[in-house]
Amino acid sequence: MGSGIGFGKTIVFGEHFVVYGLPAIASAITNTTRADVKRINAGNYRLIDNRPETPGYKEKKKEQQIDSIKRIFGFLGIDPREKPVEIVLSGELVAASGVGASAASCAAIARALNEEFSLGLSDEQINEAAFEGEKGYHGTPSGIDNTAAVYGGLIWFKKNLSGGENTIKRIKIEPIEIVLGNTGITSNTSDVVSDVKKKKEANEREFDKIFRDYERIAEEALNAFKENKVEAIGKLMNKNHALLQRIGVSCDELDELVKIARENGAIGAKLTGTGRGGLMIALTPGKELQERVARAIEETGKTVFRTKIG
Ligand code: MEV
Repeated sequence: MGSGIGFGKTIVFGEHFVVYGLPAIASAITNTTRADVKRINAGNYRLIDNRPETPGYKEKKKEQQIDSIKRIFGFLGIDPREKPVEIVLSGELVAASGVGASAASCAAIARALNEEFSLGLSDEQINEAAFEGEKGYHGTPSGIDNTAAVYGGLIWFKKNLSGGENTIKRIKIEPIEIVLGNTGITSNTSDVVSDVKKKKEANEREFDKIFRDYERIAEEALNAFKENKVEAIGKLMNKNHALLQRIGVSCDELDELVKIARENGAIGAKLTGTGRGGLMIALTPGKELQERVARAIEETGKTVFRTKIG
């Protein structure tokens, strides 16, 4: 049997902007998805998906998941009709929008197949296979989610728009507590990314200005991380959220979670990932603050993840 894991992730700065070659900062979280692969006799592959989920997530992503797995097999040069396998997905990462669930599963499956078929792939090649799998979930992924899922830690990521190597730099920090608040809404990355593209095409000048403002935020955030200036990181997250609202990827439910987090002392809060549902990230250094913010959100009936970045 072959096994592998993929980390969940949270984007601290730069979702959507990263698609256009602007830098983003993402962190793996401690929660992971695990894949176990074993050979079976029946033709083709069988998938057993035991991941915990936001209700409806797996059903909504079913078609995309089939396409994704097909792409991973193709990339690795394995034909499951000739070498049938059973893939079992498990782990404590909740399958939800905004937490990198699809990328974590792609990384886990690629690692498990690599082990079962003794392919001897490097992390870089696993990342390429996971990137290929991510295309099944949305045609034009930036690559940030699979990179965080494969490597872990806090990373500075810049997509190379000419197709060459992406810039990936590790940022070393003392881990900081965060709260991820779940709207419970499953969003479709493909649709939201394509809506942003249309809006950008219709408002080139406004978007140019937003992109320049965002770029400054990302540079300042990198310095703030390096100098351990947590207050500054929080303020920059708030500014990043305001820009995400302007490009049209927030929603009432996310704005409400951001408001509750800030009112209860979060240093900064913003949507994370695709938006229009999915998750909100709040920066809550220290167990006490993390607990206060997490409880305030839970009191509204929403679920949260208490975890750390870095
Ligand atoms: C999704 O987690 C992040 C987006 O920026 C899309 C991508 O980077 O591929 C919205």
